[in-house]
Amino acid sequence: MASRKYDLVIRGGRVIDPALGFGSDATVFIKDGTLAKIEPESAAGRRSLKSLDKSQLIDATGKLVVPGLIDIHVHLREPGHEAEETVESGCRAAAAGGFTAVCCMPNTTPCIDNQETVKFVQDRAQNADARVYVVGAITKNLAGEQLSEIGDLVKMGAVAITDDGHFLQNPEIMRRALEYARMFDIPVMQHAEDQYLTAGAVMNESFQSARLGMKGAPPVAEEIAVTRDIALCRMTESRLHIQHVTTRGAVEAIRQAKREGVNVTAEVTPHHLILTDEEIGREFNTSLRVNPPLRSRRDRDAVIEGLVDGTIDCIASDHAPHSIEEKDCEFDQAPPGMIGLETTLGLVKTYLIDKGYLSWADAVRKMTINPARILNLKGGSLSRGAAADVTIIDPDKKWTVKADRFRSRSKNSPFVGWKLSGQVVTTILGGRVVYDR
Ligand code: DOR
Repeated sequence: MASRKYDLVIRGGRVIDPALGFGSDATVFIKDGTLAKIEPESAAGRRSLKSLDKSQLIDATGKLVVPGLIDIHVHLREPGHEAEETVESGCRAAAAGGFTAVCCMPNTTPCIDNQETVKFVQDRAQNADARVYVVGAITKNLAGEQLSEIGDLVKMGAVAITDDGHFLQNPEIMRRALEYARMFDIPVMQHAEDQYLTAGAVMNESFQSARLGMKGAPPVAEEIAVTRDIALCRMTESRLHIQHVTTRGAVEAIRQAKREGVNVTAEVTPHHLILTDEEIGREFNTSLRVNPPLRSRRDRDAVIEGLVDGTIDCIASDHAPHSIEEKDCEFDQAPPGMIGLETTLGLVKTYLIDKGYLSWADAVRKMTINPARILNLKGGSLSRGAAADVTIIDPDKKWTVKADRFRSRSKNSPFVGWKLSGQVVTTILGGRVVYDR
C-alpha cells in the first residue's frame, strides 16, 4: 500500500506560533508524528487536501492552533501518593488542559533524588498522554542538608533540580547546587520562601490574616529568598529559576537582576494572578490554602505587571493534587496546594487576555516557547520536523468549571463553578490525538 502523504491535517484555524513569528490562518500538516509543514490559507492549499479522507482532517475553523502547551511546575504524586494523582491521570488532565508536556516535581515518596526514581517516573510516562520531564531534588529527601547526586540525576534525564515545597535555606548548599547545575547546564528551580519568617503560617500576612486571626507569611520572606539567590546566581554565573512568584518585592528584584544580565527566570501561577487573600474569609475554602499563599491586591497587581513586562517569563500551574479527605478539614489544617492543569488555559483567557493584559500571542509564548527555553526542552514551536505536539483552542467558548469533569484524581480547585471563556478542544501529542472534546 502506498504510504500516505500526510497522516493528519489541521485546516481552517488561526495558527499562532510566537517562536516562528507566525499568526495567521493556515493549514498544519503532520506526517510520522512530526510537523511536515504549515501552509498559509490559500486556494492552492485547499486543492491539495482533496485526496485526504475525513479521518485525516481536523476542521479548526474559528479555532486557534498553537504549539502544545508546556507546564513546568506540576505535581504528579507518583510514586507514593497515587490516591491523589498518578503519572497517567496527571497526564490525562494535562491533555485535557491543552498541555503536551509537563515537568514533574520531586516531592514524592520516595523522593526523586536518585536515578531509580527518575527512571520509575519515566517508565510510568512511556505511554502517557503528555511528555513528562522529571525535575530532580536538589537535596536528599528535600531535607536541605546533603546534595543529591546531581550528575547522576542529569545523566538519567532530569532537566532541572528543585526542593519545591521547601526553600533550600542553607546558602552554602545552594551555592554548591548552583555550581553543579552550571556544570551540567541545567537551572536550579527555587521555591523562594525564607522558612524562618514563615514558620507556622497558613496564609499571607496582611490585614486579612489579622482579621481572620491566622498566622501569616510575610511577603518579605519571598523577597529575601529571591534576593539571596539572585546574589548567588550572579556570583556562580549559573541559571536560577524562581518558582511561583507572588510578591512585588520579588518581581522588582528579578526585574533588576535581569537588567543587570543575571541569568534568572521566573514563573507565576494563574491563581496568584487572579485571586487574593480576600477570598479566604468568605468560605474558608481549603482549596485556597496554597504555598506560597494568595497575596494582597498590591502584590497580585505587581505579578501581573511583571508578567506583562516580561520580568516573569512563563505561566505554570503548580498543579498540586490533594484528596478530598485531606482537604476536608479546618483551613489551617489543610495541606497547601490546588490543582490547575485543567483550568489554566481558561483562566488565562478570561482574566489576562480578555482583560487586555496579554494578547493571544503573548499568552501562548508564556505557555510554550518560554518555558521550553528555560529548561532546554524540545518543543514549544510548530517548526518543521519538530514533534507534532499541537493544541487546538476554541477562543471564545464559554464553559463552567465542574469538579466531576476533572480528569485529575483530585478535585481541589477553588475555581469549581467559575464561568470561563476559552476552552481546549483537541490536544495532539506526537501526531496522536490524546484529547478531543
Ligand atoms: O501549594 C503547594 N503545594 N505548594 C508547594 O510548594 C507544594 C505543593 C504540594 O506539593 O502540594
